Amino acid sequence: MFQEKNEVLGNEKLSDAYYKIALSCHPGYAEAAPGQFVTLRFGERMSPLLRRPFSIHRRITAQDGQAIAVEVLYKVVGACTEMLSAYKKGDRIDVLGPLGNSFPIPDKIRRVFIVAGGVGVAPMVFLVSEMQQKGLDLSQSAAFIGGRSAQDILCRNDFSDAGMAVFLTTDDGSEGKKGLVTEALETAIRESPPDMIYACGPRPMLCAVARMAETCHIPCRISVETLMACGMGACLGCAAESKKDPNKYLHVCIDGPVFDTDVLNVR
Ligand SMILES: Cc1cc2nc3c(=O)[nH]c(=O)nc-3n(C[C@H](O)[C@H](O)[C@H](O)COP(=O)(O)OP(=O)(O)OC[C@H]3O[C@@H](n4cnc5c(N)ncnc54)[C@H](O)[C@@H]3O)c2cc1C
Ligand code: FES
Repeated sequence: MFQEKNEVLGNEKLSDAYYKIALSCHPGYAEAAPGQFVTLRFGERMSPLLRRPFSIHRRITAQDGQAIAVEVLYKVVGACTEMLSAYKKGDRIDVLGPLGNSFPIPDKIRRVFIVAGGVGVAPMVFLVSEMQQKGLDLSQSAAFIGGRSAQDILCRNDFSDAGMAVFLTTDDGSEGKKGLVTEALETAIRESPPDMIYACGPRPMLCAVARMAETCHIPCRISVETLMACGMGACLGCAAESKKDPNKYLHVCIDGPVFDTDVLNVR
């Protein structure tokens, strides 16, 4: 884990509320894995406890394999993300990471379904690039990307360029099929179930995915977003209920953010 003031290499506006920021990083990010996150600290006067977590969206490596930058894909929803959108190339930002666990990529998997709602697509692009690095043939795999409207549908080319089938859904029908991303997923599971489902997005979406995975006996890993304060297991700000023992709480920041849906009670 590294805490550094990293340089902003670019901060691109993708659509009304979505941005992608590239930050220089410690070479140790070569060991970062998909699903892990960084926390960013905004402004000197804010408490260090009020860092904000963001998934690693992409890792950029030099020709010699050294990690030189990480990208974060983010949605402006409040004060800190608003501040983040104002950062310019050359500014510096306090970055702590990589934190948390990661999506497992078992050697034996052949067909995966990736389900992403809105900015939940952020860690999935890193996941797909790592699966490609491992030599996985993704031509039998599919990505299901959902959002409220067309502007919430991001990164489709990252999945299609990797050879995956891509299914798009929006609540208002402005892009892809009108409806919920989980409806498209259910149809595809009925036709031919995958070896693994990976999902990240709003809580109701994760609940529906977890239920489907359980009913159809498909291994499923979800990345969970909770409010976080310390990001390091010290404050209980990110407690989540264990499925095996309802009296036991898991920390999303250190036990997660990626959980097996057999272990976490998703509600
Ligand atoms: C492990 C992890 C990874 C994340 N990865 C990303 C990412 O890649 N891209 C991205 O845009 N966001 C990501 N988030 C969410 C991001 O941390 C919040 O959007 C951000 O902290 C909001 O800060 P703010 O000050 O702008 O908004 P705030 O003023 O703090 O909040 C604005 C609104 O958003 C809600 N909110 C804030 N944080 C969360 C959260 N974690 N889950 C659900 N609702 C929340 C608040 O309740 C409030 O209604 C991630 C969160 C976690 C825990
Ligand atoms: S955010 Fe403090 S324990 Fe997880």
